[in-house]
Amino acid sequence: MGGGPAGLMLGRLLELRGIDSVILEARDREYVQQRVRAGVLEQATMDLMDEVGLGERMHAEGLVHEGVELRFDGEGHRIALTELTGRAITIYGQQEVVKDLIEAREASDLPLHFEVSDVSVDPAGTVRYTHDGESHILEADLIAGCDGFHGVCRPTIADVLTVYEREYPFGWMGILAECAPSSEELIYAHHERGFALASMRSHEITRMYLQCAPDAQPWEDEAIWDELDRRFGMSVNRGPVFEKGVTPMRSFVVEPMQHERLFLAGDAAHIVPPTGAKGLNTAMADVALLASSIGDEAALNAYTERALERVWRVQHFSWWMTSMLHRMSDDPFETQIQRSQLRYTVTSEAQATALAFSYVGLPFITA
Ligand code: APR
Ligand code: PHB
Repeated sequence: MGGGPAGLMLGRLLELRGIDSVILEARDREYVQQRVRAGVLEQATMDLMDEVGLGERMHAEGLVHEGVELRFDGEGHRIALTELTGRAITIYGQQEVVKDLIEAREASDLPLHFEVSDVSVDPAGTVRYTHDGESHILEADLIAGCDGFHGVCRPTIADVLTVYEREYPFGWMGILAECAPSSEELIYAHHERGFALASMRSHEITRMYLQCAPDAQPWEDEAIWDELDRRFGMSVNRGPVFEKGVTPMRSFVVEPMQHERLFLAGDAAHIVPPTGAKGLNTAMADVALLASSIGDEAALNAYTERALERVWRVQHFSWWMTSMLHRMSDDPFETQIQRSQLRYTVTSEAQATALAFSYVGLPFITA
């Protein structure tokens, strides 16, 4: 269920193992391919794209980064990711990953149905849906709930789930603009007016974010650029803004991630705040584990426990990065604690190394 990165990658992994699958997606193809999301691939996500034979465009167009910058008190401090860990990250938009996966699915002629409706799931193994005006019933050995945070799979088994959740009292206002990035590497900036992030999609496209009220309406372009200048303490490159939106921030995990023949993966099971860019990568980690567990009942029974071990590490990292970098409250004690943590992170090699290992990503677990 779901044709986002989790569902599409799982379909590809199953194809390579010779296991039949049907992918059902509620939206149309254009929507799924154009949806703007994060753009940082961990080393293990890149390795997975290579493993499934879809790394070519990612290597050609992706930008490999060997460090990131933390900026506060008007000064930048580089965390040398590759020097500290031997690994790197790649900037390659989630929608590019999705395009590559859809193209491969279509080339292999396996079922991927867009614009399905009236979807209902029986965790014993039955899926009902409507496509092209006709209703269908599928009997499956296993249903993968890869239908995102707002999908139907998780609510279907709500009775057996425990929810762990935190909402943050702020959101991110994101823009995509036609101009060269203002720095070669990503900048995570802590400022008394709030957090800011400088990222990119290519040498010509800038991606930037500002901490804002969770229910804010996107500001005028000029106001966004002025605020970015203030928070980064420099004049950032400006250009025509062609995408603008506000994302709420949330930490969310359900346990277990399975019930009967239904297995949740990706955003259907957990959400992280975007500081650290773990959402897509964690979805990929889930499906790598799930795909390798299919066909082995003991491994499937252990899915939740094994997936959640990694998921909670990532939850901690994303919460920690969020708490260290944002304006969390007006409480001066909290601000001093944050500044102390930032100074420690950029001056202690041990602490910088801990950040770097989480940032480039923990290894994926397979059965
Ligand atoms: N039936 C079929 N498909 C559905 C249904 C439904 N009832 N409900 C939702 N979907 C589809 C959505 O339209 C979406 O395309 O499921 C897909 C889920 O994809 P994502 O939300 O991208 O979730 P996932 O594949 O787990 O990927 C996680 O997405 O939110 C980002 O930052 C997150 O990068 C991470 C990634
Ligand atoms: C992005 O480029 O969209 C991005 C980068 C880093 C993050 C989050 C988002 O932590």
